Amino acid sequence: MTTNNSKLLMEKLVSLCKRRGFIFPGSEIYGGLGSSWDYGPLGTELKRNVKNAWWQTIVHQRDDTVGLDSAIIMNPEIWNTSGHATGFTDPLVECKECHERYRADQLESGTENCIKCNGPLTAPRQFNLMFKTFVGPVEDSAAQAWLRPETAQGIFVNFSNTLVSSRRKPPFGIAQIGKSFRNEITPGNFTYRTREFEQMELEFFVPPEDDETWHEYWVQERIDWYLNLGITPDNLRIRDHSSDELAHYAKATKDIEFFFPWGWGELEGIANRTDFDLKAHSNATGQSLDYFDDIKKARIIPYVIEPSGGVDRATLAFLIDAYTEETHGDTERVVLKLNHSLAPVKVAILPLSRNEKLIPTARAIYETVRKLGLWKVEYDDSQSIGRRYRRQDEIGTPLCVTVDFETVEHDQSVTIRDRDTMGQTRVSISNLVSTLQTMLTQ
Ligand code: GAP
Repeated sequence: MTTNNSKLLMEKLVSLCKRRGFIFPGSEIYGGLGSSWDYGPLGTELKRNVKNAWWQTIVHQRDDTVGLDSAIIMNPEIWNTSGHATGFTDPLVECKECHERYRADQLESGTENCIKCNGPLTAPRQFNLMFKTFVGPVEDSAAQAWLRPETAQGIFVNFSNTLVSSRRKPPFGIAQIGKSFRNEITPGNFTYRTREFEQMELEFFVPPEDDETWHEYWVQERIDWYLNLGITPDNLRIRDHSSDELAHYAKATKDIEFFFPWGWGELEGIANRTDFDLKAHSNATGQSLDYFDDIKKARIIPYVIEPSGGVDRATLAFLIDAYTEETHGDTERVVLKLNHSLAPVKVAILPLSRNEKLIPTARAIYETVRKLGLWKVEYDDSQSIGRRYRRQDEIGTPLCVTVDFETVEHDQSVTIRDRDTMGQTRVSISNLVSTLQTMLTQ
């Protein structure tokens, strides 16, 4: 599936991410660490905007969900109960000569030899993806614990506390954003598959008989979220899991897939987890994890619909989808056409040049806009105005405000340049904030 063009696109994007401060290779000055990435100043803003957009839609704009922030290291018994200690595995094969490792289920069927050196491969063995750690100073089996491979279990074990303290009843959901860890056999494709990543998970608890209706509902909600944030519709599709790929807890799962440069890949899975987890934790602890149904006059363990997305994968998809190369006459430009709400910097204030007549006015406008606290705003007076526009295009800044000699000598007006159309609008400084507000919400 990977063509020269798609390889080139990824090379350009990875290079832009490093050059402009979105994503850096992790531990770089120590020679790096396989598939580990650090988010730079702009990447941090972008990722935060992705998480905020999810939290806004899933928690703040609804009255049937609440948030949670649970621990990464939990009682290890939880992972026995959830089935992860035994069942969260991938089939691993290894080359007997060069020791390259592969996931057997990702090799073409019938592959018996190493892709790198043609040496013979071992028979597959199940490899558990959870990272082991020890709690306290003694590294013995009694102190052994795991880094969570999904945030979901933190939600299940807090079901009763949350239900009671927030006075809710199904249908209602608990949402969480946080780090998860998996010792992936074959991480790669930039930040697509890493060993440390963030998830945005909602466990939505429903009456068992309504599970399929809510499953359909959440698939549509989640597709709409990506579309509303500007992902090209043709780059999204829904794929049903076949029965042999369903997770051990799932009755049905639909993946939202994005067309990455190397082919279709999972962005988010929406699973019907039934009452598997609550029932298992209830049996293991003796605690009732149910609710009282007023109509049926009975205690019921709810079913769970789980939209589970990756923050890093969504961020990567938004970057790839936004990356645009354009030719205008004999000039070329690279633009990140990010949705305004995701753009790391919303407004750049630029004096036309470093002339001392322009700088005080430009800085005063910058200070005024910045102090409103509405958006991330940048001031830049380095290099030529053309180069500064190019930089702002490359980092996806929707609007640039330019202060020129007309501003200070005649009309107390500035020029707003639109990233996508490159069209320019002249507005008076007194109307600047309201105009920016209107343009940014378009
Ligand atoms: N609680 C369900 C669950 O964890 P999953 O399909 O294994 O389901 C959900 O993971 C999402 O987490 C995926 O759709 C993906 O976006 C993200 N994800 C999973 N493994 C990842 C990895 N190794 N690197 C980056 N993101 C990952």
